[in-house]
Amino acid sequence: MQKIGIVGSGLMGSGIAQVTAQSGVEVLLADQDSDSLDRALAQIGKRLARLGEQGKLNEDIDVIQERIQASSDLDRMAEADLVIEAVSEKESLKRSLFEQLDALCPPSTVLASNTSSISITNIASATKRPDRVVGIHFFNPVPLMPLVEIIRGAATSDETSAAVTRFAEHLGKTVIHAKDSPGFVVNRILIPFLIEAIFALESGVASREDIDKGVTLGLGHPMGPLTLADFVGLDTLLSICEVYQREFGDPKYRPPVLLRRYVAAGWLGRKSGKGFYEYPNGNA
Ligand code: CAA
Repeated sequence: MQKIGIVGSGLMGSGIAQVTAQSGVEVLLADQDSDSLDRALAQIGKRLARLGEQGKLNEDIDVIQERIQASSDLDRMAEADLVIEAVSEKESLKRSLFEQLDALCPPSTVLASNTSSISITNIASATKRPDRVVGIHFFNPVPLMPLVEIIRGAATSDETSAAVTRFAEHLGKTVIHAKDSPGFVVNRILIPFLIEAIFALESGVASREDIDKGVTLGLGHPMGPLTLADFVGLDTLLSICEVYQREFGDPKYRPPVLLRRYVAAGWLGRKSGKGFYEYPNGNA
């Protein structure tokens, strides 16, 4: 893989761009929102500067940054060997993007989705190359979390799965393989855990601080579940619950009313400055 296209410059897209550029591979980062692209480049610059100060980079920051070309023009994805989609967790949005990418990119290009819960088979059916569509699921913060899940849709070929596995390993990530089932491995387990913490808060079992302390100190997790929910994004969490409800048809995945209200209020967690906690300095 000589050149990687990334569509979507939010938290995940910018993290994937950073680690890809650090690994020596060219990146085309596309987003129709040019402010989001500017924020992504600034954030990557800050993180690289911090790594540079700590002596953790073996190249000049400028060399790494120059590997990332930002563009609001989706057509440029035709230059990439692999395109990774990292847009919002909405199936209709992803399907329409994959349809456009399929029309734009040469037949050899692999199209991958960083979806956390949506079926790869459903996304692939929007294209004429379902054998070259695959899931590559990173974890937030991408530069720090060592795992990548690779998900095969019904028609994904062995070659496609092997190619993205090699790419993730080239980034220094450890790969696990999962079937195309909602939430794959990690979110299948994580989301009910986060939801249960919100139900506990909603029903007054304990304060937000004590729920989080219970899990950090009692279970040794780096973040309590309400802090982690804010970190993941409450809108993303709600979208994932809705996918589970639809796909499994099991009421155990129903989203708490409190979560719906927070999202309706625009309290989306860290990225909006407020969720279960307040973040006066934003996500920086
Ligand atoms: N991006 C990049 N670097 C970050 C960062 C971010 N968002 N947040 C913190 N860091 C860096 C800090 O700069 C700091 O680096 P230095 O040591 O160089 O200063 C280092 O990480 C440690 O930071 P802190 O001391 O502030 O905080 P910490 O020790 O609590 O570590 C953490 C932060 C690594 C995020 C840790 O709290 C953690 O592992 N939390 C759990 C994260 C997690 O579960 N992620 C998965 C979410 S689920 C998901 O992503 C899947 C999905 O589809 C929903």
